[in-house]
Amino acid sequence: MAQTKQVLVIGATGHVGGQVVSQLAEKDVAVRALARTPAAAALPTGVEVVPGDLTTPETLIPALDGVDAVYLTWPMLPGDAANRVIEVIAEHTHRIVLLSSGAVRDDVTEQDNPIGKAHALVEQPIRDSDLEWTFLRPYGFATNTLEWAPQIRAGDVVRGAYGAASSTLLHEADIAAVAVLALTTDDHVGARYELSGPTSLSRAEQVATIGAALSRPLTWEEITPAQAKAQMDWVPEEFADFILNGLAAMVDSPGQPTATIQEVTGAPARSYAQWAADHAADFS
Ligand SMILES: NC(=O)c1ccc[n+]([C@@H]2O[C@H](COP(=O)([O-])OP(=O)(O)OC[C@H]3O[C@@H](n4cnc5c(N)ncnc54)[C@H](OP(=O)(O)O)[C@@H]3O)[C@@H](O)[C@H]2O)c1
Repeated sequence: MAQTKQVLVIGATGHVGGQVVSQLAEKDVAVRALARTPAAAALPTGVEVVPGDLTTPETLIPALDGVDAVYLTWPMLPGDAANRVIEVIAEHTHRIVLLSSGAVRDDVTEQDNPIGKAHALVEQPIRDSDLEWTFLRPYGFATNTLEWAPQIRAGDVVRGAYGAASSTLLHEADIAAVAVLALTTDDHVGARYELSGPTSLSRAEQVATIGAALSRPLTWEEITPAQAKAQMDWVPEEFADFILNGLAAMVDSPGQPTATIQEVTGAPARSYAQWAADHAADFS
């Protein structure tokens, strides 16, 4: 593809999409940001914000005018909702970078978990289209630990299940850095990138790391998985079960880092300590 002149970011107000917007703007690539409520979108000055909703794919058409490449966050819409969205995108542009998930497996015909299944339903129509594509398949985001912010603002103890579960949490800026390269250069077409943070840390260690960033000792207090599940009202029940089972497995089998961020960007993946320092205000 000739030089990328304009990118549409779908999910521009989200954790990763927000970073994609600012990193593209820093590279002087014209960015158009899609939001369901543009007036509420807090984005860098100069970024064009346009309305659109993935549940009504035709609303994407004006947003796609003149766009060379699309960054797509998929907000877990049901069933085959992606088919028409991808059809519309493919009719109007050449390239897509999908924020998929490390839960997608290539070695099975039927995905064996609900998160992998939801993302595979988006990957499939993209593969079947004429679009140049890159799939980002990250493991856990460091932003997941923002769920502890209310407890940390209220005191020095974080209560949760599976404090010994170790994972390689990712800084959203690193996922975005890979996305920006895939959007703006030709070297990543057809790639499926498994992305992780650099080091495995237990949840109890993650809490202590936030404490270090806040210069305040924080401690972990274990609760039962059933108590934890009762508090997970932000995800459907099958996702809550999958997440809790994943944590249980990571007690004995810590998440293993991948080298992809270093290989693709040339810079090491940011540490969880860096992420906690960057987000100290969110916990204060
Ligand atoms: N958390 C993890 O550990 C993890 C790991 C692997 C993969 N993932 C995947 O990463 C994605 C989430 O990324 P994120 O954390 O960057 O996002 P996020 O912070 O949760 O933000 C979600 C974005 O989606 C947009 N959105 C929601 N519904 C929409 C709709 N109907 N039409 C258009 N836009 C819509 C929102 O925009 P507006 O509200 O402004 O319209 C917002 O910008 C999910 O697909 C998740 O499965 C997450």
